[in-house]
Amino acid sequence: MSDAMPSALEVAITLDGRDTTLEATPATSLLRALRDAGATATTGACEQGECGSCSVEIDGRVECSCLVPALVCHGSVIRTVRSFVRADLADALAEHGAVQCGFCTPGIVVAAEAALADPEPLTEHGVRESLAGNLCRCTGYEGIIAAVLRVDEARRDASGRERTG
Ligand code: FES
Ligand code: FES
Repeated sequence: MSDAMPSALEVAITLDGRDTTLEATPATSLLRALRDAGATATTGACEQGECGSCSVEIDGRVECSCLVPALVCHGSVIRTVRSFVRADLADALAEHGAVQCGFCTPGIVVAAEAALADPEPLTEHGVRESLAGNLCRCTGYEGIIAAVLRVDEARRDASGRERTG
């Protein structure tokens, strides 16, 4: 059996709106390939699909990038927290004390914006379900939930959409 490392292959993706080429072996996760390419806005902690900090959107679906082999992403459109971060959510998270160490925050923002895209008004239960895959060791979640609900309400008010409840 050979001990030679498999050589890296090129993975062409659209990353946050820009054509980007990653390098990856069959064993390289998308998270590792992104960070090795300098796209370090996406954090990672467990690298086992448990914490959600590495969440990105791949072709419209939110996924844990630590669980996705980079090679299968060839040709994909990938959006990280860089594509999702908006001032209103960032401000609301800060004002609710929902960013402390910040390690979970990129994944929280990706998951929260996916929830906020729902045409129906969000409920506390719905936000909790949407963020169930995103662990936060610091905040106790209450501030995160409150921030997302506030942004949902404010965006609905701003867009004149109907609110219920
Ligand atoms: S680093 Fe991917 S789920 Fe924890
Ligand atoms: S703010 Fe530290 S893990 Fe969430």
